[in-house]
Amino acid sequence: MLKPNAHYGDLQESYLFYNIGQKVQAYLDAHPGAKLYRMGIGDVSLPLCPAVIEALHQGVADQSVKERFHGYMPECGAPFLRQAIAAHYEKRGVKLDPEEVFVSSGASDELGDILDLFDRSSTALVLEPAYPAYVDANIMAGRKIVHLAASRENGFLPAPTEDLDADILYLCSPNNPTGAVFSRAQLQAWVDFANEKGALILFDAAYEAFIEEPDLPHSIFELPGARTCAIEICSLSKTAGFTGTRLGYTILPKDLQRGGMDLHAMWVRNRTTKTNGVSYILQRGGAAVFTEEGQRQVMENLQVYKNNARTLMKAMEQLGLWYCGGKNAPYIWLRCPGGLSSWQFFDTLLQEIQVVGTPGEGFGACGEGYFRFSTFGSPEDTEEAARRLVQLLGKN
Ligand code: MLT
Repeated sequence: MLKPNAHYGDLQESYLFYNIGQKVQAYLDAHPGAKLYRMGIGDVSLPLCPAVIEALHQGVADQSVKERFHGYMPECGAPFLRQAIAAHYEKRGVKLDPEEVFVSSGASDELGDILDLFDRSSTALVLEPAYPAYVDANIMAGRKIVHLAASRENGFLPAPTEDLDADILYLCSPNNPTGAVFSRAQLQAWVDFANEKGALILFDAAYEAFIEEPDLPHSIFELPGARTCAIEICSLSKTAGFTGTRLGYTILPKDLQRGGMDLHAMWVRNRTTKTNGVSYILQRGGAAVFTEEGQRQVMENLQVYKNNARTLMKAMEQLGLWYCGGKNAPYIWLRCPGGLSSWQFFDTLLQEIQVVGTPGEGFGACGEGYFRFSTFGSPEDTEEAARRLVQLLGKN
């Protein structure tokens, strides 16, 4: 008789964004035709930029011609895209062998898949509040999880302490959900800690393109020592609007060894077994993001989201609500007003002003009492949501 994976019984009944979707659907069922202002899940509202669309069309055209047709793609990524990403890193002073770049179908898929490299007895450290998939993927694998609480006092950027005992260290900067960004010195402390303990950092860089301040690191590989202790997982979802198109990449240095095993060689072995590569057409579209014109266009789109962030931050200031994020990140993390719990605040905003956000508690227990707004909506919706927030909360 088949034995199912009993660790699924340790998960919460359903996933955060699924729960929110259910609540929103229930509201719409009760209020047919209601207009909602969606600032919950970080899903983009702008279309792909023209350079990407053109490259996607070219990819389709190539597939229609015998001489340019592609069948199975190389499992670890098309050389043209691996080289384009390596060249992009080099502009930031990070030298990579293109073979250290693995093309993926997105960061969330990869954050789960990469766990194949680690023994199930290894312990995962999650700095909470955190993207809930870090926790769930490790629960599914039956791993022990250590939670390190981030708080307002440490700027939601906790530092490693000597007594921390964990093997896989999840770091996300700019952070989802708090928008906090590690400085070079803060990130260096984690790199040094990982090297000293023989631990490994899984660095989620999905929001790096939102960094505005010149001294903040975009990649963990900007820091000395990272090549022997880190894997970086990145995505074009937020940078270039690929949430529905699906494309990402992972940087896994050839220097990375643990227990006498070569993690780069292991990941090549994994990918060549478990995938047949990402579609040629998508990789053509992805490569366009790293051209000069592509970069100019995606940055233009990000400016729209940054303006949304300013609109919401202005509303927070008007209301005197404590918040962080919004500057180098597309999320605003705020304290719920009037001592409301995060789900109470969620319900109030949905029922009273039809604004959808994300309750902080969904990112771990220490997110209770906080709330997250995404800045990826349309400017019109964001402005209206800000106006409604000020009107509702300014009354008290
Ligand atoms: C979020 O809202 O936290 C993200 O958009 C979810 C994701 O990237 O999967």
